[in-house]
Amino acid sequence: MLNNIDYKPGLEGVVAAQTRLSSVDGAAGELIIAGFPLEAIADKATFEEMVYLLWNDTLPDAAELAEFRAALAKRRVLSAATLEVLRAAAADKVDGMDALRMAASTLNLGESSADPHDDALRLVAAFPTIVAAYWRLSNGNEPIAPRTDLGHAANTLYMLTGDEPREARVRGLETYLNTVVDHGLNASTFTARVIISTGSDMISAIVGALGALKGPLHGGAPGPALDMVFEIGEAANAESYLREKLSRGERLMGFGHRVYKVRDPRADVLAAAAAKLYQADGDMALYKLVLDVEQTALRLLEEYKPGRKLQTNVEFYTALLLHGLGLPTDLFTPMFAISRVGGWTAHAFEQQTANRIIRPQSVYLGEKTRRYQAIDGR
Ligand code: COA
Repeated sequence: MLNNIDYKPGLEGVVAAQTRLSSVDGAAGELIIAGFPLEAIADKATFEEMVYLLWNDTLPDAAELAEFRAALAKRRVLSAATLEVLRAAAADKVDGMDALRMAASTLNLGESSADPHDDALRLVAAFPTIVAAYWRLSNGNEPIAPRTDLGHAANTLYMLTGDEPREARVRGLETYLNTVVDHGLNASTFTARVIISTGSDMISAIVGALGALKGPLHGGAPGPALDMVFEIGEAANAESYLREKLSRGERLMGFGHRVYKVRDPRADVLAAAAAKLYQADGDMALYKLVLDVEQTALRLLEEYKPGRKLQTNVEFYTALLLHGLGLPTDLFTPMFAISRVGGWTAHAFEQQTANRIIRPQSVYLGEKTRRYQAIDGR
């Protein structure tokens, strides 16, 4: 018999899947991706290797990687129908994540969706083309056709500007994409697994996941974290600005996490990637300001919220890194999706191999003996 004792709001603490894809240990500050501690792989692998690893549970050898890269590269081009949708979305000025959702759902137009592996390749391959095309169309520019000779990350940057990116930038983006590719049973990943568990198709699962990722409680914080740094402007203003915010009871964007109560390991990996990128190719004054704001924020959070264990989260350094890559804040959440689609598709495959429809229960709180009354008697 179900009663309120069984009810876990937000399913918190409920184990709803077994996975070999990633392990999040919030108390230890540890993230394992398919057997690798995040920091052992994120700044070394290409994104194609990372997706191959998630899908196949092993890193590819040279021939397998070449084949996988080619399979993705040839699926980068968008159909005329998908581009038409993006043009209509740009004319209506829709949000970038909505445009990505609309375009993603057209990816099996004119193609059979019977093969989930083929759909997954098309989704991973086409997300950067959709995001770049939509961004250009929204700014009054024509999309730039993808190149098959560039890797996934390099081609993503290329399609935004038409310039072939320098190696430091490609490495910076690659490290970001690897760092956020999978993270346990987060809301969007759970959504994808629920949809695929009904026997539905890969494209539907990923479109649903995009809808979940769009919500500000899931994928939307790095923009505000950077805005805060820009508002502070210079290190001398950091303490008074942050004190004012905390005295008003406001939250500091880019700090705190539901799961991690020590430093988020992704923040460390992205901090190191940002350091490399800015030293090679960036605005060192901004970089130093961000470090200063972080130190001041951590000190003040301990003062205003003692014992709450509020640490720097992934969004803080995502903002710095993506800004350093020349990406505007509008592209931050779509970039997250370009990465996470690798994890979503891997989870969908995993769900398919040992499927049981995900079907929890609810506790009924309503009345049970109402009588129907005809409309003119209500
Ligand atoms: N700045 C200031 N105070 C914060 C804070 C922040 N960023 N995050 C949490 N707190 C405070 C809360 O006000 C609360 O204080 P109280 O005990 O006096 O009421 C305490 O810390 C615990 O907060 P709680 O809301 O229970 O933590 P949570 O685990 O539910 O929240 C977040 C996690 C991420 C939602 C929260 O830390 C937050 O809003 N951070 C800012 C937004 C952000 O960076 N999001 C991206 C997450 S990856």
